[in-house]
Amino acid sequence: MEYRTLGRTGLRVSVIGLGTMVHAGHFGPMSDAESLSAIDAALDLGVNFIDTSDAYGAGYSETLLGKALKDRRDKVILATKGGNTMVGPNKGKTDFSVSTIARVMDESLKRLQTDYVDLYQLHNPNVEVIERGEVWELLDRRRKEGKIRYLGVSINKMEEGMAAVKRGHSDTIQVEYNMLMQEPAQELFPLAQKANVGVITRVPLRRGLLTGKMTLADQKRFQGEDVRARSFAGEIFARELEKVERLRFLVRGPVKSLAQAAIAFCLGNPAVSVAIPGARNARQMQENATGADIHLSPEDLRRVEELWRNSFRA
Ligand SMILES: NC(=O)c1ccc[n+]([C@@H]2O[C@H](COP(=O)([O-])OP(=O)(O)OC[C@H]3O[C@@H](n4cnc5c(N)ncnc54)[C@H](OP(=O)(O)O)[C@@H]3O)[C@@H](O)[C@H]2O)c1
Repeated sequence: MEYRTLGRTGLRVSVIGLGTMVHAGHFGPMSDAESLSAIDAALDLGVNFIDTSDAYGAGYSETLLGKALKDRRDKVILATKGGNTMVGPNKGKTDFSVSTIARVMDESLKRLQTDYVDLYQLHNPNVEVIERGEVWELLDRRRKEGKIRYLGVSINKMEEGMAAVKRGHSDTIQVEYNMLMQEPAQELFPLAQKANVGVITRVPLRRGLLTGKMTLADQKRFQGEDVRARSFAGEIFARELEKVERLRFLVRGPVKSLAQAAIAFCLGNPAVSVAIPGARNARQMQENATGADIHLSPEDLRRVEELWRNSFRA
């Protein structure tokens, strides 16, 4: 495993992390045994960065991690998030008020069975919250108390990331970045790198699409609460599959799978410290970890960037 410094936090993180949204059933049903096998495999492979949120399964993912890491908390750089809701009547709503964040942070610590988290991220804050939110004072107090070591944001829009870097509260930014979504590399990554803000890239496999394993027939299985029911709805899915076909040229020589190439692509950007693919089980975790052994050539990286700029982006 390769390790990089996560911006000004100084934390040495494995370039491959583990995203745990899948473990809370947001990608269809899961068994705890499978989730635990993914977590065990991650630690065996030298993965030391695990990302979760109180929103995943309304705390389910954190509870599972709390049990799994009980006797090995010191082996892991643990990142969680607060302020967003993904389950129940408030689904899709965010709340970054001081009282809410104070409460949900304590609940997260309890579920995670730990006194502190290494990174506490606001989960999808808008520019207003990033620039003027009173919540930052609370987070600063919690940092002084030792409940959290570093602060970050997980963002959706580029302007949110830019605001976070400029405002200066955030030690890290978490953002979607993959071969089909390269916008952060345009302005956000250079800005973050200059400010020494750590970059965590999420959804590196575009929810499994960039493993190259999906066909049109898969669309039928994405139902109900599966996040892919929305992100791969209607015509979008066929268009995304066509783009994936145009990336298959990367699987040659030392590159044995598109999943490997997709993860190596993220790590090919020097601003990126860690990519956090979700892994449903030990097998997926093992394959994702091999992405760290692959280095795409500058020519291949240029071709992927050109495809995005000229065709994928539209
Ligand atoms: N707003 C936010 O803060 C936010 C939003 C999204 C994600 N995240 C974070 O980013 C993490 C990763 O994002 P994500 O899970 O949405 O997307 P992802 O990592 O691109 O895709 C994960 C999915 O791809 C499939 N997969 C993974 N490895 C595979 C392999 N080697 N071979 C075949 N299939 C494989 C699995 O689904 P199947 O087995 O069902 O195919 C898995 O659930 C999340 O867990 C979370 O920590 C944060």
